Amino acid sequence: MAEKISIVTGANSGIGKETARALLREGYRVVMVCRSKEKAEAAREELIKDTGNENADILLCNLDSMQHVAETAKQITNKYSRIDLLVNNAGILPDGERTLTDEGLEYTFAVNHMAYFLMTRELLPLLKSTPGSRVINVASDAHNAGEFNPGNIRLEKGYSTMKAYGNSKLFNIMFTWQLAKELQGSGTSTFSLHPGVVNTNFASNSNSWFAKLFNMGRIFMISPEKGARTTVYLCTEKGIEQHSGKYFKNSKISKPGVYAAQDDDACRELWEMSERIVSEILPQAVAG
Ligand SMILES: NC(=O)c1ccc[n+]([C@@H]2O[C@H](COP(=O)([O-])OP(=O)(O)OC[C@H]3O[C@@H](n4cnc5c(N)ncnc54)[C@H](OP(=O)(O)O)[C@@H]3O)[C@@H](O)[C@H]2O)c1
Repeated sequence: MAEKISIVTGANSGIGKETARALLREGYRVVMVCRSKEKAEAAREELIKDTGNENADILLCNLDSMQHVAETAKQITNKYSRIDLLVNNAGILPDGERTLTDEGLEYTFAVNHMAYFLMTRELLPLLKSTPGSRVINVASDAHNAGEFNPGNIRLEKGYSTMKAYGNSKLFNIMFTWQLAKELQGSGTSTFSLHPGVVNTNFASNSNSWFAKLFNMGRIFMISPEKGARTTVYLCTEKGIEQHSGKYFKNSKISKPGVYAAQDDDACRELWEMSERIVSEILPQAVAG
């Protein structure tokens, strides 16, 4: 049997690291997509020691750069002949002030949505050629603070930490809904999820009031291992393919709290807008 390959973004910390640990235990090769060499190597060493599975590879990528995301996807395509699982997990809670990436995108929108979108889009041919492959998008119940306003997708008006984060997590659910449609008949399925409120490094680098509030509540939060359970369920549970596109909480289907999250027209519009943004930034990118 061919070795099963999983890609996990943000695999050096929190939910991503626990997902990588569980997949290594399941016998997968795990490709850890991380931005810090030091942190990635430390996590890799810990995971190998703990699981006894040495098949953990590191690919360095700063997901705030679409150029870098596209290059990383190309490296993956050149190096691996299949992808059984793509777990788009890396994410941030932004600062209180709106900041832009070098490519001119609002930072949260770039890392939390556009990187999910572009990484997946570029890996679609390999995903589709791997029987039973899955794309898991780590979203959040914070999508309830988000809205889909096509005229303000880059949050040029009315920026706040919660709006930027809430929008990005809403977009994760919308992207998953549309992706399921794009994947129909291909044998690849996709799911989004809320992991719970989890005591990870999340919010530890944000100067926002929300981060301060979040950090005060840490003792009430679940562990990263528990926080990874729904992700791992969606990676490994047999027979859930017919639920492709859906949003999960506690390993069960859940209804998002915002209508646009699963509205066909809105989800298609977000997809098309994301495509246009990619083609503005990377005119040479080839559609997946
Ligand atoms: N914790 C919660 O309560 C909670 C609740 C709902 C949803 N979530 C979602 O869960 C996911 C994982 O978060 P977590 O709680 O595990 O937080 P975490 O411990 O901070 O892990 C986040 C991971 O994303 C990576 N990352 C951030 N920005 C990146 C960039 N520009 N390029 C590459 N990697 C980047 C981080 O790398 P560094 O270590 O180098 O920073 C880290 O590996 C996120 O999508 C988050 O929105 C979390």
